[in-house]
Amino acid sequence: MHIREQIAAHRSIRRYSPQPVPDDILRQILEAGVCASNTGNMQVYSMIVTRDSHLKQQLWEAHFKQDMVLQAPVLITFCADVRRFGKWCAARKAQPSYRNLLWFCNGSTDAVLAAQNVTLAAESFGLGICYLGTTLYNAASIIDILNIPPGVIPVTTLVMGYPDEQPPLTGRLPLEAVVHCDVYRDCSEDDLSRWYAATETSEQAEKLLQINKKETLAQVFTDCRYTHKDNVRMSEAYLQAMKQQEFM
Ligand SMILES: Cc1cc2nc3c(=O)[nH]c(=O)nc-3n(C[C@H](O)[C@H](O)[C@H](O)COP(=O)(O)O)c2cc1C
Repeated sequence: MHIREQIAAHRSIRRYSPQPVPDDILRQILEAGVCASNTGNMQVYSMIVTRDSHLKQQLWEAHFKQDMVLQAPVLITFCADVRRFGKWCAARKAQPSYRNLLWFCNGSTDAVLAAQNVTLAAESFGLGICYLGTTLYNAASIIDILNIPPGVIPVTTLVMGYPDEQPPLTGRLPLEAVVHCDVYRDCSEDDLSRWYAATETSEQAEKLLQINKKETLAQVFTDCRYTHKDNVRMSEAYLQAMKQQEFM
């Protein structure tokens, strides 16, 4: 399959067969991860591959008991990591200054670029993946479970394995909603109505309105899925994890 067709066929997989991922395939996938562009070619990230069932059980709790964490044979936690590079500097009579917000951002960028390369490679082998945002929500637990030292912090996670479902593709906003020509052009209410029309009138939206007893789909996001209270609490928890890991 051509790479563009493969990208267009992407869907998150949340049900997995127990079939393990062969070591040589996993290795090729991880090698694709490290081919990604990265900050100054310093590779300020790490990928923690977890297959141990006892650890996966603990990670399942940390990831809000999402069952795919138990089902998928492989879990990869992508971390911003300035520790390895900092230790190399210190051992070479150089003074590292990478435990700060700027290098958290650089490390996170590196980690996410590697994760998306891993995704594309995995999908090229017929494997499925799903990202786990719960990595940010519960970073402190993941740090404990995976024995993550200062200078390293989890940014995102992929579950990976052979799919046991073929969900429909999810829609995207039209390209004009996300692409700006030359400079940023703010959107009007008319633009919003046009761009969100397909999403707002979908069967899925109808269901969500009924289940959550809401008037608009936007309210499902703000009042049910990603609430102010949770956002503030989890932001504070992640900032605390950044302090604990000495990024601030
Ligand atoms: C950073 C990030 C975090 C995500 N976290 C979760 C998650 O915790 N649980 C989940 O079921 N899906 C998660 N997803 C998957 C998204 O819901 C999914 O990518 C989006 O709905 C688009 O669907 P698609 O990937 O099937 O095209 C996450 C995706 C990203 C990029």
